[in-house]
Amino acid sequence: MSVDLSTTYLGLALKNPLVASASPLSRTVEGIRRLEEAGASAIVLHSLFAEQILMADYPHNLGVGSAEPAPRYFPRWDRDPIGPDGYLDEIRLAKRSVDIPIIASLNGTSPGEWVQYARYVEEAGADALELNLYSIPTDIHLTGEAVEQRHFDFVREIRGLIQIPLAVKIAPFYSSLPNMAHRLVEAGADSLVLFNRFYQPDLDLETLRPVMGPVLSNSGDLRLPLRWIALLYGTLTTDFALTGGIHTYRDVLKALFVGANVTMLASELLENGPDRIGELLREISRWMEQHGPESVARMRGQARQFSAADPAAFERASYTKAILSLDPAKTLSHRGM
Ligand SMILES: Cc1cc2nc3c(=O)[nH]c(=O)nc-3n(C[C@H](O)[C@H](O)[C@H](O)COP(=O)(O)O)c2cc1C
Repeated sequence: MSVDLSTTYLGLALKNPLVASASPLSRTVEGIRRLEEAGASAIVLHSLFAEQILMADYPHNLGVGSAEPAPRYFPRWDRDPIGPDGYLDEIRLAKRSVDIPIIASLNGTSPGEWVQYARYVEEAGADALELNLYSIPTDIHLTGEAVEQRHFDFVREIRGLIQIPLAVKIAPFYSSLPNMAHRLVEAGADSLVLFNRFYQPDLDLETLRPVMGPVLSNSGDLRLPLRWIALLYGTLTTDFALTGGIHTYRDVLKALFVGANVTMLASELLENGPDRIGELLREISRWMEQHGPESVARMRGQARQFSAADPAAFERASYTKAILSLDPAKTLSHRGM
């Protein structure tokens, strides 16, 4: 039996559900070619950051009349080897070098003059744009409502600037993620990318300074986006990309069963090389041949039926069951106590 791995994402017909997530692997044209050769069905380029654009084009605006913070803690963008124009060149070069879709990535916290780059990446030939809404509110007077409104306005503004499909990569930390997702789709998101990976620093006990925590994910990180796509699938007219914790073929299968159109990989490819894509595709095909269904399209969203009738009650019941089923006697005996 031959299986059909094709899927659709952002209106693009993709040969399989393995997309290279934004990462340094797409910083060079050699890296982009390698990802295509390994079997990636599309590539999200590494991000162009609002701060990079502001430093290069609108330095007078940085930190003034813009929610982008002052550059004090940022890397020295004057040593930025690429810069915003270089990023546009990268898109043009990538489009000439590979046949798979190229998704550009802009990363910022709020609109400003810099969002014109949404138009520029479209003009440079990007097949779609992914907007990464990475921000961590730290102001005690800033309400959740205001943060969310800023994000909706941001998405609406960018949607108005471009014709190409728009994906929005978000964090899991909203008090009502379903409502947030619904309103982002209303504002113009054609896809939701769940979730942004937050680099949570650790603390060095010698210096009391924050230090970089682990940057790469593991399969355990999959459970958060898996749960949320399962809950959101079927409730919104949008595509879903699952990013975070895809390391094995089983991770990919789970993502598809809960309703993801595509999975996006960074850590696994950084750790073990782009050729992992080919291995995963072979393993997925083998599993589908043995278990069915025979196509990704038929697989998508099948697992949702378990929670669909009353998702809130299902979640609550699962939570209570997990807590109450823990037997302290067994847990202690595991430790020889
Ligand atoms: C070294 C590194 C660089 C990354 N750079 C970007 C980036 O430029 N823009 C972005 O949106 N995400 C970036 N990410 C996040 C990844 O695209 C991905 O969403 C995240 O790592 C979760 O997927 P994973 O578990 O497969 O790593 C980066 C991740 C890593 C590890």
